[in-house]
Amino acid sequence: MLLPSRTSEGPETLAEYQARGGYEGLRRLRDTDDPTGLIDEVETAGLRGRGGAAFPTARKWRLAAAATSAQKHVVANGGEHEPGSDKDRHLVEHHAHAVLEGLLLAGLATGATKGWIYLIEDMTGPRQSAERAVQEAEAAGLLPFPVEVRCGPTTYVAGEETAALNAIEGQPAKPRKKPPFPGEAGLFGEPTTVNNVETFAHVAWIARHGADAFAAVGTAESKGTLLVTLPTELQNPGVHEVPFGTTYRELLDEVGGGVRDDREVRAVLPAMSCGFLLAEHFDTPIAYETLADKNTSPGCGGIRLVLTDTDVVALTIEIAEFFMREQCGQCPPCRMETNQFVHILGAVQAGKGPGYDDKLTKLAAFTRKKGQCSLIEMAAAPVLSAVALFAEDFAAAAGPGANGGDDA
Ligand SMILES: Cc1cc2nc3c(=O)[nH]c(=O)nc-3n(C[C@H](O)[C@H](O)[C@H](O)COP(=O)(O)O)c2cc1C
Ligand code: SF4
Repeated sequence: MLLPSRTSEGPETLAEYQARGGYEGLRRLRDTDDPTGLIDEVETAGLRGRGGAAFPTARKWRLAAAATSAQKHVVANGGEHEPGSDKDRHLVEHHAHAVLEGLLLAGLATGATKGWIYLIEDMTGPRQSAERAVQEAEAAGLLPFPVEVRCGPTTYVAGEETAALNAIEGQPAKPRKKPPFPGEAGLFGEPTTVNNVETFAHVAWIARHGADAFAAVGTAESKGTLLVTLPTELQNPGVHEVPFGTTYRELLDEVGGGVRDDREVRAVLPAMSCGFLLAEHFDTPIAYETLADKNTSPGCGGIRLVLTDTDVVALTIEIAEFFMREQCGQCPPCRMETNQFVHILGAVQAGKGPGYDDKLTKLAAFTRKKGQCSLIEMAAAPVLSAVALFAEDFAAAAGPGANGGDDA
């Protein structure tokens, strides 16, 4: 749906995109008297945001559409910087027109007067594609309002929506206090709709093919397709599009072609900020509702594997160190949690004995919801999950401790 089979490899041109029905949905919406009708369509489609939090897209749009303001903004968030995830970079680099059309549709539906495609500084190829798409669309008279491409710093937190707004304004890319939410007061204090670039590409598809066609794909609560990034241990690594409802077994074996060597997969991490899923649950369909039952989520689809020879304690430390490094330093509970996670896990690795699981759980419970963004909860999910699901690995690494007791 989002990734068409193509004969050429480079960025999709305007002519190529239009040849597969691109900008038809935009033309139709521009011809209607009431573009807010698209919000109902997106609601019927059951589209949920693909930036990681799976927020219902139509609900977000209604907030901005209801706001009265002479100026309103719409932002396509392509600030992806999660290790293992490459889908937004790939989408913008190869299919910038699909993202742009979705942005324009969302802008019309919410009454935006200005659009922004937000990327990060190291995205040279995607930036060139996005700028070229905007120029081509402008020359073809397709832009109902001006659109600019802006880049924030290459940090993880710069992808958080209010950090992205700060970066576009030329401020440090750190999350803002919420409320107010961007739909009420976003860019320059004006109502702003922020969606992930993949979300917008799905919007363009819905506008072209209809809500029912979109909702016919997927599961009860997870509609359409999702982009996933498969790791290099598989035969077919890279970005793939799969319908919701595909199982992890199908994803790894059929889409991914299986592991390159004879190692077995013990578990997957569906994305860096989620819980792990053990191999015994690989027949679980990929869907928000089914994965929630297993204490995880599809996240942004940057898949990691736990193989038979993976040191899970080292992997968990690597993840914890990532969050410690990338937290922006504004909130003391976040600094404390992310630093303490690394410290406690380091003690496990150093064989300093039991007690670590209780400390990690209490720490995560104490800091929960105490940050200006959800990085605190994102950092806790893989750590708590690893300690629970790979309890034997952690116990073996921690050992009995100096006195056979708790000195972690
Ligand atoms: C630390 C952090 C990093 C994030 N990074 C991204 C990102 O790179 N891209 C993205 O679309 N959303 C990211 N998000 C989520 C955004 O804040 C926001 O929810 C999303 O852009 C909304 O779009 P959606 O509703 O279409 O998913 C991040 C959130 C947090 C807390
Ligand atoms: S929770 Fe962490 S990453 Fe988020 S704003 Fe606070 S310090 Fe920054």
